[in-house]
Amino acid sequence: MSGKALNIGDQFPNFQAVTNLGEIDFFEWMGDKWAILFSHPADFTPVCTTELARVAKLVPEFEKRNVKPIALSCDSAESHKAWIEDIKSYANLSSFDYPIIADDKRELALKLNMLDKAELNAAGIPLTCRAVFIVDDMKKLRLSILYPATTGRNFDEILRVVDSLKLTQTKSVATPADWKQGGQCMVLPTVQAADVPKLFPKGIEIIPVPSGKSYLRMTEQP
Ligand code: BEZ
Repeated sequence: MSGKALNIGDQFPNFQAVTNLGEIDFFEWMGDKWAILFSHPADFTPVCTTELARVAKLVPEFEKRNVKPIALSCDSAESHKAWIEDIKSYANLSSFDYPIIADDKRELALKLNMLDKAELNAAGIPLTCRAVFIVDDMKKLRLSILYPATTGRNFDEILRVVDSLKLTQTKSVATPADWKQGGQCMVLPTVQAADVPKLFPKGIEIIPVPSGKSYLRMTEQP
């Protein structure tokens, strides 16, 4: 049994949850910010420890982008509180400034399709995979990714996606492979040639290709 798979652009479901910082209503907790909700298999596990430590160090970067991180695993709030002490010690952190949802009944994991049938706990019950959901200030899903338990995520990539999402929602560009903040962008395929001078007054570069089609249109980051 699982919830309906969420697609990009879907309204994200609100929920109430217990966390190490107390009870929350997800949408109230978000306020007018974006959220990154990321799950991990279990407390007191090695890869998860590195991931939660990395996000704790990146909190100022998320703040700069108006994004609030929140983690989730299928352990209790008491377990999370004890594990946070290990994470702080491992990463030399004086504080740990974001909540971890205690989904010990797996209700949210089921609702959001986060359970990994291939990864079972000692009792044979599925653990949560490494899911990432980016939810915008309109409470719409803007990105989802699923990683297996044995592969830790790259949180620089998550920040990079946030930067791309925020840029491309207001400008007529898309960001190419391996783009980073400040790098060259591509003019959207939907932009008509006649509109280019108005939208890109500094000009664009069209990269010639054998097909003769003018679709590789580069521009400075607007
Ligand atoms: C980990 O976080 O290290 C981990 C958790 C579950 C399965 C494999 C690795």
